[in-house]
Amino acid sequence: MEQSNEVIQKKNLFSGIQPSGNITLGNYLGALRNFVLLHEQYNCLFCVVDLHALTLRQDPAALRRNSASLAALYIACGLDPEKNIIYCQSHVPEHAELGWILNCFTYMGELSRMTQFKDKSQKHADNINAGLFTYPVLMASDILLYQTHVVPVGADQKQHLEICRDIAGRFNSIYGDVFVIPEPYIPKTSARIMSLSDPTRKMSKSDAEDSYVAVLDAPDAIRRKFKRAVTDSEAEIRYDPENKPGVSNLLSILAAVKGTTPEEEASALSGLGYGALKEATAQAVVEALAPIQARYQEIIKDKDYLNAILKTNAEKAHAIAFRTLRKVYKKIGLYQI
Ligand code: TRP
Repeated sequence: MEQSNEVIQKKNLFSGIQPSGNITLGNYLGALRNFVLLHEQYNCLFCVVDLHALTLRQDPAALRRNSASLAALYIACGLDPEKNIIYCQSHVPEHAELGWILNCFTYMGELSRMTQFKDKSQKHADNINAGLFTYPVLMASDILLYQTHVVPVGADQKQHLEICRDIAGRFNSIYGDVFVIPEPYIPKTSARIMSLSDPTRKMSKSDAEDSYVAVLDAPDAIRRKFKRAVTDSEAEIRYDPENKPGVSNLLSILAAVKGTTPEEEASALSGLGYGALKEATAQAVVEALAPIQARYQEIIKDKDYLNAILKTNAEKAHAIAFRTLRKVYKKIGLYQI
């Protein structure tokens, strides 16, 4: 009897992070940590989106350092560079090339509605450049080049994924099925980690240093930040995000790190003061980050190893991206030789 040699193709997943500074505990617990097992289910690409970072003025030395650092951190967090394509956006020229084409399929009106553009233009009124405006088009290019099925996105990037879907749909309706239309990937369990100084807002690396814990923070910095975390004027450890956002955030962090639930942590600590909660959380975070930090130091010191990985993976990414770009060029009528 003939064996069916039909192979069930894995779907593709694309995720990008800007190399613009510190990766926070929120990024780690809410996203990176959960990416580790995804390669079993998806072909995963994890991209250091250095071209996107240029939409804000960057110090060249810092950008270079941050890009290597983010690549090393992806690996240190447990993403296997043999099983996942970990690379830098600028090493694969197709991102910018498809970006240009897609610019011609995106309307000014659509881009003007992007809330992130409005926010960033307000924050950086002295540098409202065209790249900031067309940022979502480059992001669409990142995603569509790899025929991506799923994109893990936080709430702040939903609108950008929506416009990516619109652009892809518009292109497909003119030229036939060229692009896969991507869907948002919503992880089954994902902790939403809030700012330590304003626990009603998401933890963000663009806020003040004391409001977030960076994955690469030293243990004493981590302890100091938790000590200063905003709580409330009651003295009861209870999980109640609505009325006790600060205490609940600490419980969520503690639970996310330990793999328990915030309610379990609340009952384990009941009767104790907020000092104990802060110490327990800080200790658990320090312990969870220690192996990542150690691995990170090894990788960042071994540039030959890191660069070799980035080179091989950029080649893998390029091979896929090249195929999509060729198809696009052909469909839209660019003269091929
Ligand atoms: N815009 C994303 C952010 O700031 C980063 C990003 C760029 C991205 N390209 C992407 C995320 C493609 C997902 C898919 O968070």
